[in-house]
Amino acid sequence: MIDPAVAIDRLRTAFGGPERHRTLHAKGRFYGGTFTATPEATALGRAGHLTGDPVPVVVRWSNAGGDASVPDKVPDIRGMAVKFRLPDGTETDLLGQTSRRFPTDSPEEFVAMTEASRRPLTFPLFMLTHPKMAPALLDGLRSKAVSAPRSFTEPTYYPIHAYGWRDAEDRLSWVRYVFSAQPSRPAGSFEGPDRLFEEMAARLADGPVRFDVRLLVAGPGDDPHSAVSVWKGAREVLGGTIEVTEELPDQDPLVFDPTRVVDGIELSDDPILRYRPAAYSESISRRT
Ligand code: HEM
Repeated sequence: MIDPAVAIDRLRTAFGGPERHRTLHAKGRFYGGTFTATPEATALGRAGHLTGDPVPVVVRWSNAGGDASVPDKVPDIRGMAVKFRLPDGTETDLLGQTSRRFPTDSPEEFVAMTEASRRPLTFPLFMLTHPKMAPALLDGLRSKAVSAPRSFTEPTYYPIHAYGWRDAEDRLSWVRYVFSAQPSRPAGSFEGPDRLFEEMAARLADGPVRFDVRLLVAGPGDDPHSAVSVWKGAREVLGGTIEVTEELPDQDPLVFDPTRVVDGIELSDDPILRYRPAAYSESISRRT
């Protein structure tokens, strides 16, 4: 397994972004709102944010690159990180991005892929030499995971990893998430380097921005312990709504950690999920 300090060195070198920013997803802003679970989610999970009462959330929309000075019109993956604040004072985080499939179970290969993506001319060569990653990368091309949207509400966001939900009787379901915006009026056209954030400000001036939290509940034979696995037998349930009402002042050094879970939510053995906190801690120590 690649040493997290080496991974962060290599990722920072790949982007050459300024110090004191996130190593990836360097450009982003914070927003506040609530999450309200559906009765279907309450039945599936006993965790404290799934009761059906609204709980506060902090959302951070971001561009995936490690250089915060890149204008928003440049094609990129986008991020939507959500922190749920439970009534008992605990927190749990979900970090979504616009690729619906993840290409590898190996952190080393993820780093190599990110480096290779910085050299678009030779990226096809990387795909040829890593054929196991090709299906997910081609799926990303087909679904326009890397794009130049006009609004953070355009793309769909995928937190990728499965989480184990325990219900009131302690029964376990494995769940993956999808965040998709509810239809809304366009907020106008913005052309500046921060056009996505200006568009969001205009949208919020007009009213809340709502995202559906869709749940994919694994069927028999669907593997929850791999970021790469494609689920064939999952059923989809509407799990709740994220309602964003305002932009917040800078919250840094706020940290979103995909392994931060609460009573009633369990981690899988997915090697990418298990690796991420060490890499994120290393990134955080460089930016704080
Ligand atoms: C081995 C795999 C991965 C590595 C090494 C990695 C690395 C990183 C690092 C270093 C950061 C900056 C952390 C910070 O300074 O707070 C970050 C942020 C982020 N990552 Fe990953 N990542 C990986 C996989 C993923 C996956 C699978 C997803 C989504 C499904 C994801 C979504 C995000 C998002 C949304 C952020 C921004 C969080 C924020 O807004 O604060 N990453 N990643």
